[in-house]
Amino acid sequence: MNTKASSPEVIVALDVEERERALGLVKELIPRVRLFKVGSRLFTAEGPAFIREIAARGASVFLDLKFHDIPATVEGSVRAATAMGVMMMTVHTSGGVAMMAAAAKAAADEATRRRLERPLIVGVTVLTSLSKEDLADLFASDLDLRVLVLRLAARAREAGLDGVVASVDEAAAIKRELGGGFAVVTPGIRPAGADVGDQKRVATPAAAAASGSDFIVVGRPIIEAPSPLEAAEAIIAELREARR
Ligand code: C5P
Repeated sequence: MNTKASSPEVIVALDVEERERALGLVKELIPRVRLFKVGSRLFTAEGPAFIREIAARGASVFLDLKFHDIPATVEGSVRAATAMGVMMMTVHTSGGVAMMAAAAKAAADEATRRRLERPLIVGVTVLTSLSKEDLADLFASDLDLRVLVLRLAARAREAGLDGVVASVDEAAAIKRELGGGFAVVTPGIRPAGADVGDQKRVATPAAAAASGSDFIVVGRPIIEAPSPLEAAEAIIAELREARR
């Protein structure tokens, strides 16, 4: 399994508008950071060629397009992303067990067919922008948010996904209930004293490490720092210290 018992690995979110700036960040950070998250904005603007340029710099890509559609369509999207050679990608768990299973199978089949390493498929549970009230209104359900996140994570594991995206608050419970082999990817990371920005539930790198998280996603604290490389190094040092 791909999850690690050591420190979480840092994924830098390339949340920038211009490709040159994104490629500059990859070039600067590549000695210390291996994984970069490309979201729908950058991918929609720049496409697969941009993913190949990142890979050409020796980096791995977390393609965060949050696929959410019928199983056959998601299967096709996952095959296309696997063919691009990404290391990790996201699908919405609320697409259902059949859709998630189709995604997991498509990644495995396409990777085998192309002799590539199988990418990790991680599930998005409940978007952090949705409140309990939004869920009650949308789905006519008053389920507790944490219960819902755990339930969706359990379904993701049953369907064969490799892990889920979750806040540090939820990571420990997911690890406890679903086992160490199921990866947890945690965004909302802020080193002590850093600007929280629009994040509501934030945690330090040390808290993320203590929660058992396998990967932390960090955007602004690194990409907007005066020295992104120094900011990344400080976060990596904090993660190492925390897991000792
Ligand atoms: O700049 P910041 O560190 O807040 O960036 C976090 C990254 O993680 C962004 O790309 C954001 O879209 C993503 N993310 C998040 N919260 C989630 C899921 C993804 O912040 N629940």
